Amino acid sequence: MELFISFFLLLTLPLFTLIIRYITVSNPNNNNNNKLRPPPGATGLPFIGETLQLISAYKTENPEPFIDARVAKYGTVFTTHVFGERTVFSADAETNRFILQNEGRLFESSYPSSIANLVGKHSLLLMRGSFHRRMHSLTMSFANSTIIKDHLLVDIDRLVRRNLEMWTGRILLMDEAKKITFELTLKQLLSIDPCEWSENLRKEYMLVIEGFFCIPLPFFSLTYRRAIQARKRVTEALHLVVRERRLERERGVKKNDMLAALFDNDCDDVMFSDDEIVDFLVSLLVAGYDTTSTTMTLAVKFLTDTPSALAQLKEEHEEIRARKGASLALEWDDYKSMPFTQCVVNETLRISNIISGVFRRAITDVRIKDYMIPKGSKVFASLRAAHLGQDNFENARVFNPWRWQKTSDSTNFMPFGGGPRRCPGHDLARVALSVFLHHLVTRFSWVAAEDDKLVFFPTTRTQKRYPIMVQRRNVVE
Ligand code: HEM
Ligand SMILES: *[C@@H]1O[C@H](CO)[C@@H](O)[C@H](O)[C@H]1NC(C)=O
Ligand SMILES: *[C@@H]1O[C@H](CO)[C@@H](O)[C@H](O)[C@H]1NC(C)=O
Repeated sequence: MELFISFFLLLTLPLFTLIIRYITVSNPNNNNNNKLRPPPGATGLPFIGETLQLISAYKTENPEPFIDARVAKYGTVFTTHVFGERTVFSADAETNRFILQNEGRLFESSYPSSIANLVGKHSLLLMRGSFHRRMHSLTMSFANSTIIKDHLLVDIDRLVRRNLEMWTGRILLMDEAKKITFELTLKQLLSIDPCEWSENLRKEYMLVIEGFFCIPLPFFSLTYRRAIQARKRVTEALHLVVRERRLERERGVKKNDMLAALFDNDCDDVMFSDDEIVDFLVSLLVAGYDTTSTTMTLAVKFLTDTPSALAQLKEEHEEIRARKGASLALEWDDYKSMPFTQCVVNETLRISNIISGVFRRAITDVRIKDYMIPKGSKVFASLRAAHLGQDNFENARVFNPWRWQKTSDSTNFMPFGGGPRRCPGHDLARVALSVFLHHLVTRFSWVAAEDDKLVFFPTTRTQKRYPIMVQRRNVVE
């Protein structure tokens, strides 16, 4: 992908510098006109707009250079042109909330066709209207806190411990975290325990995920084509599982997982087809896998870089361990007695912004602040810009879990989005992260094996998959 972008740059830049630059900048101070205007901004070069500036900005270590520069010039809501389309950016928490709350009324989620092909046309991400509402609540009812408490926590705890048992010496934390979250998701969706089959499926899955990250001009990309082929193999494998489970079900075997819920749910008396079910499962795997595992990895990085926070976290978990004596498994009451861990989780989500924002399309003319966003406009609600905005959080760009001991107001904090499309996996992600941290800090001490930096494009992650050296601790167990 790197190579591809440089090649693209090489090819197109000289060409564009020869063309007259049609850069349209409207004046942000020119408000004495009564007619409402679209938000001010620059739309850059023809066709590619400011896409290259966006990409190169996020290759630096500054988390928000593209938006910072434009917010300073135009204010928190501005117009730009990225990924082939004029786009209104919001770096304003209140505007973001407004956009998310008005899903279906003023805005609709909008994904490029390259993404739609990867998640599948029956994915929750692409559903609309009342059908979406129904499927969103079905997904919620399979990942809400009651279900986690009564069923999922046992599996999460067991799978995390099982994986940590195998760690010695130097490990790539990002890869280990991915393995854990994939196993969790397969268990939750299909009641499948880790095995050779699941490990093979995971390898295909990683290829699919890579396809999401070749956003500029995906159809020319080898990675993208490979992702589409891998998706086909993934859906074939899942089709077999679904078929087998239907037969089992006819024989009266009952299982308690997402697939069983999909079999039992019919919409307007129409049962879901296997195609619909498989797309649905694929999109849940996509949504939960990379997000949760990257958050786990970054939490460990932030803690490693902030020893006083790690020390306090360890203390909290050692107290829990001491109280539980020989009982290894973490229970719901234990989860509920980790106040500092919840601060660490929130702060990790606030700083890392795995989903940096969401794309929407205005389905009617929408007035925001003193601007008019014309019907059909693409809109990007930047969650990251709100989380890293100095007006919203004091010293916003510093990892400081203690801030959550003071603030009770979390209105500017939306790591899981909001409104009708709020992440149905939000509780699950929090619990998985907490359980992971518990077993990690009580079992191991570790150091970073190499200097590894954060990068922010196409998503937040570390450059080298965060290699660490782990050492088993002799704890009270
Ligand atoms: C740290 C981990 C996670 C983060 C930061 C995260 C974040 C988000 C965000 C911001 C959205 C809103 C997208 C939008 O409004 O267009 C979303 C949607 C979604 N998330 Fe998550 N998520 C995480 C984990 C999970 C997990 C574990 C699952 C699995 C159950 C999941 C399933 C979904 C689904 C299915 C949607 C689409 C909802 C819809 O369009 O109605 N997520 N997530
Ligand atoms: C979670 O979903 C179940 C149905 O699966 C429901 O009975 C329960 O009330 C829900 N719990 C919460 C906290 O919403
Ligand atoms: C973490 O954030 C959530 C909002 O997403 C909030 O409800 C909760 O109180 C926060 N936790 C702490 C410890 O501040």
